[in-house]
Amino acid sequence: MAISTGLLSVADLTSLEIQHLIESAAFLKRGRKANALLKGKTIALLFEKPSLRTRASFEVAMWQLGGHAIYLSPAEVGLGKRESISDVARTLSRFVNGIVARTFAHETVELLAKYGTVPVINGLSDYEHPCQALGDLLTIVEKKGDLKGLRLAYVGDGNNVARSLVLAAAAVGMDFSIASPPGYELDKSALRRAKKLASQSGAKIAMMSEPRHAVDNADVLYTDVWTSMGQEAESRIRRRAFTSYQVDAALLSRAREGALFMHPLPAHHGEEIAKGLLDHPQSVVFDQAENRLHIQKAILVRALGGKPV
Ligand code: CP
Ligand code: NVA
Repeated sequence: MAISTGLLSVADLTSLEIQHLIESAAFLKRGRKANALLKGKTIALLFEKPSLRTRASFEVAMWQLGGHAIYLSPAEVGLGKRESISDVARTLSRFVNGIVARTFAHETVELLAKYGTVPVINGLSDYEHPCQALGDLLTIVEKKGDLKGLRLAYVGDGNNVARSLVLAAAAVGMDFSIASPPGYELDKSALRRAKKLASQSGAKIAMMSEPRHAVDNADVLYTDVWTSMGQEAESRIRRRAFTSYQVDAALLSRAREGALFMHPLPAHHGEEIAKGLLDHPQSVVFDQAENRLHIQKAILVRALGGKPV
């Protein structure tokens, strides 16, 4: 899938396309001021789940690029309930130049892309969060200068964020080690795809259950919530399973000197992270949040056919 037809998974991109997106995002970030690369273009933000960063950053991105975004809330659209996914995709395609969708089932973004005639960008599904992982690569490049040869340690759930990150790391040649409790590991299919990419880039991918082992020699320590949106009914059982996976300053101190602490947010202080960790001098979480804006501008310009940057 070329980015001109959308972005459902990090695996839709070659490592060269990822590099180009990071460079374009850095260029757009340096420019800062509004420009007209997407003048007259409109996107729909079709969301089944709540959001702060994704919604705000896509709306601001479109405005700063001279275009416009309309937000469509779950209650209004009733995706797959009030109206079928295919009818929503075909209707919206007559109004807008692109759709950013945040869905429960990953199949929903796939169906939107199948039936829509405009690019569909995955703004988080249960299976992946590509815009997050790509923005995170931009943050790592800014702080560490390069990606190849670095090591990212992920401690926690093998969830949507972890899947997009492992694919991104494998594509660009960054080692990735993940420590998860039994039953919450990365799924076999994501692991297989990541290992295939890693065999071309030289990245090493490792799965384990002991957080300390994952963190040794890491340049980045990353975690995410134990209970993702849509899994709220499991939160008690998950809290129990993940008790010894909390990231704190002591775990961070086992990583390389100057290692970055990263989290996509929202964070649950006192659960996956110790209270105060977001304010640790090695934490870059708000740079991460800001970089969602810049990477998404680069994605939008590519996907919606604006002037290349
Ligand atoms: N990180 C992220 O996607 O945040 P939101 O859920 O607030 O959009
Ligand atoms: N894994 C989290 C990420 C939120 C940005 C979720 O899906 O809720």
